[in-house]
Amino acid sequence: MQKLDISAPEGKLGVLTPGMGAVSTTFIAGVIAILKGISRPIGSLTQMGTIRLGKRTEHRVPMIKDFVPLANLEDLVFGGWDIFEDDAYQSAITAGVLEKDLLDKIRPELAAIKPMKGVFNKHYVKKLDGTYIKSGKSKWDLAQMLVEDMQKFKDKNNCDRLVIVWCGSTEIFMKREAVHQSLESFEKGLKSDDPAIAPSMIYAYAALKLGIPYANGAPNLSLDFPALYELAKQTHTPVSGKDFKTGQTLMKTILAPGFKARLLGLNGWFSTNILGNRDGEVLDDPESFKTKEESKLSVLDQILQPDVYPELYKDFYHKVRINYYPPRGDNKEGWDNIDIFGWLGYPMQIKVDFLCRDSILAAPIVLDLALFMDLAKRSKFSGIQEWLSFYFKSPLHLPELYPEHDLFIQQMKLKNTLRYMMGEEQITHLGADYYEYYR
Ligand SMILES: NC(=O)c1ccc[n+]([C@@H]2O[C@H](COP(=O)([O-])OP(=O)(O)OC[C@H]3O[C@@H](n4cnc5c(N)ncnc54)[C@H](O)[C@@H]3O)[C@@H](O)[C@H]2O)c1
Repeated sequence: MQKLDISAPEGKLGVLTPGMGAVSTTFIAGVIAILKGISRPIGSLTQMGTIRLGKRTEHRVPMIKDFVPLANLEDLVFGGWDIFEDDAYQSAITAGVLEKDLLDKIRPELAAIKPMKGVFNKHYVKKLDGTYIKSGKSKWDLAQMLVEDMQKFKDKNNCDRLVIVWCGSTEIFMKREAVHQSLESFEKGLKSDDPAIAPSMIYAYAALKLGIPYANGAPNLSLDFPALYELAKQTHTPVSGKDFKTGQTLMKTILAPGFKARLLGLNGWFSTNILGNRDGEVLDDPESFKTKEESKLSVLDQILQPDVYPELYKDFYHKVRINYYPPRGDNKEGWDNIDIFGWLGYPMQIKVDFLCRDSILAAPIVLDLALFMDLAKRSKFSGIQEWLSFYFKSPLHLPELYPEHDLFIQQMKLKNTLRYMMGEEQITHLGADYYEYYR
């Protein structure tokens, strides 16, 4: 197999996040703390993961970061936009994810990261009253201002490349409309301030226009429509999304493939959450919750394939609830009650009570996405990066394909893509080389 022609990660990589709240600042503070030797990059596949190459007898298991040419953490420069003026230190303090002691150790580095003014409209996020917002004559003008921000950031920080990961709030539920169908109609819509164009779409448009890889960490429609796919194709830009796969949905996509593998049936899956951070407050609005709900509900159907296994998975009841409960802050509690059935139809129950920390689970995903999206760009990949489905609740996919939700298939796809990039054999797990019974 031939190794792909991948350009080296020379120079600095600017990582920009629209939205500099809990997830973004936990990611940034984490990388700074890791670089200072205060902490370890736990949860990050790019930093701690390994990859098996060749036969099991060869014992070749390099670290992923030594196998593929990724940008070094030392070469990352952070920036972004928000609708509040707080710098990354203040914002991290407000988010309350990391303790003040830790943040104080890296205060100067964090305080130096100041957001650029955001593109925002309360219509799309009802619970927020932003005070640090760009004004422009039209959405088109706002897009041009974002393009300018990106170029200025790159020049000012002497960056070789940029990558963008959306870490802003979840917008109201939106469907594809006529304006989303072609680049021409979308650009017209920007000029005429079409209400079907949300702020997250304007950021995505600006990034794609400049060929900057764009990953969407929220369930927002953002770029998941033909117009922006057309633009991504035109500018050879990799895109990925939607919605970081962190707490409860991560658990679902770990457990459900196991039930299906052992042919255990499912009668119902009830999931509820309490959380008290700003994300929880935004999701307290039914219109933003609807966007999240759609994203969280989709995984079980695809994994369990009720059409293929009607006796086991037809008509299972699936409910997801998110309740805003301020005392918990970022420390979410997610309960799952799972009604399964086994041999001769006998019912059983599983209860999962996950006391998780949302942003602690999301931060390494932002890091991995920034590094892998940059790798994708340098490998001349463009359009939907399905191999990064591993990180998302609602992976982007071609209309003729279904999305892959099973975490273990996603992981295999990701690692096989890395092997493909580097000209290594794909691993099939057949094992015919080792055992006589194959002969
Ligand atoms: N933490 C997780 O586990 C997780 C998992 C999946 C998805 N997400 C999504 O990631 C996003 C960020 O989560 P969070 O916990 O950091 O939320 P957060 O509320 O702490 O941060 C979001 C930030 O985005 C800003 N913002 C909102 N609209 C903006 C705009 N148009 N332009 C620029 N900034 C804008 C807000 O002011 C806020 O500072 C949310 O959409 C959330 O649903 C988080």
